[in-house]
Amino acid sequence: MLDLAMKIGILTRNPQAWCNLQLKQAMVKFNVTPVCFGFKDLMGTIGLRLGVTLHGKPIEDEVSAVIVRPIGSGSLEQIILRVDLLKAIEDLGVKVVNRGEAIEKAVDKYYSLLLLERNDIPTPATIVAEGYGEALRGYRMLGGNTVLKPLFGSRGVGVARVEVSDVAIRLFRLLSSQRSVIYLQSYIPHGFSDIRAFVVGDRVVASARRISGYWKTNVAQGAWTRSVKLNSELEDAAVKAASILGCEIAGVDIMVTRDGRFFVNEVNSQPDWRGLQSTTDKNIAEEIVGYVVSKLKG
Ligand SMILES: Nc1ncnc2c1ncn2[C@@H]1O[C@H](COP(=O)(O)OP(=O)(O)O)[C@@H](O)[C@H]1O
Ligand SMILES: [Mg+2]
Repeated sequence: MLDLAMKIGILTRNPQAWCNLQLKQAMVKFNVTPVCFGFKDLMGTIGLRLGVTLHGKPIEDEVSAVIVRPIGSGSLEQIILRVDLLKAIEDLGVKVVNRGEAIEKAVDKYYSLLLLERNDIPTPATIVAEGYGEALRGYRMLGGNTVLKPLFGSRGVGVARVEVSDVAIRLFRLLSSQRSVIYLQSYIPHGFSDIRAFVVGDRVVASARRISGYWKTNVAQGAWTRSVKLNSELEDAAVKAASILGCEIAGVDIMVTRDGRFFVNEVNSQPDWRGLQSTTDKNIAEEIVGYVVSKLKG
């Protein structure tokens, strides 16, 4: 029998991960066949008229779209190649969500915040420097109550508070000598909670307050989630922030201070939604798959 079902790829290292199982279930509902594969199953070619292949076959013959779950960790070379492949796949007419270009922007904490700032999204005051002396100058400019972050990172790993100048001096010297960049932000007093807005297309499909026992509010760091309805200002900011970076699916993190000011902390281009799903009746995986299918049909 001829298989007319649309095929959508789930690009992942772990097809059994909770979010991927949710996506697969959602695809069945939309009469879509899920095709799970990893970057290791892809080959980029030049001069062979093959473009990018999946298990040796032109990828555009295998899937109509690819949902990237997540791009994963790896060497700089591997990450750059993965982004290149996503761009090449998109050029073959396959819908890639999120696009390579969007992921590239969003994973870079400095560049993404720069783009948000340029587009008038409130962001925490931030400095980045290679040199120890400039980093120390920045630390003083920020007032000495700071958060140090890896330029590329997630789940709160390696994010640390730096509030004492002796510590700053030793740390920046060490980082600089190790060829690390120093990315430093002023501490936003958020009262140990922040907001995660899950954007699909041009809508916030779910939002939650992440509440923590300490200042890091990542679910991976032990925070729990509670449903929250966003006001239109925060909703608009989340949708706009995702769109500035070109993310069609995004987990936008917003810190709100007691006096009502808000700051977009980051736009996650490959967000997990397990914690968030427990706060809403809406099926987030179905929102994602429905969005991709509507784009393919439209
Ligand atoms: N400038 C800041 N002020 C206060 N808390 C912050 C700040 N930056 C990050 N945090 C806290 O640390 C957590 C992790 O930082 P984040 O920048 O989101 O890195 P990651 O990509 O590892 O999640 C955030 O969810 C937030 O709770
Ligand atoms: Mg984060």
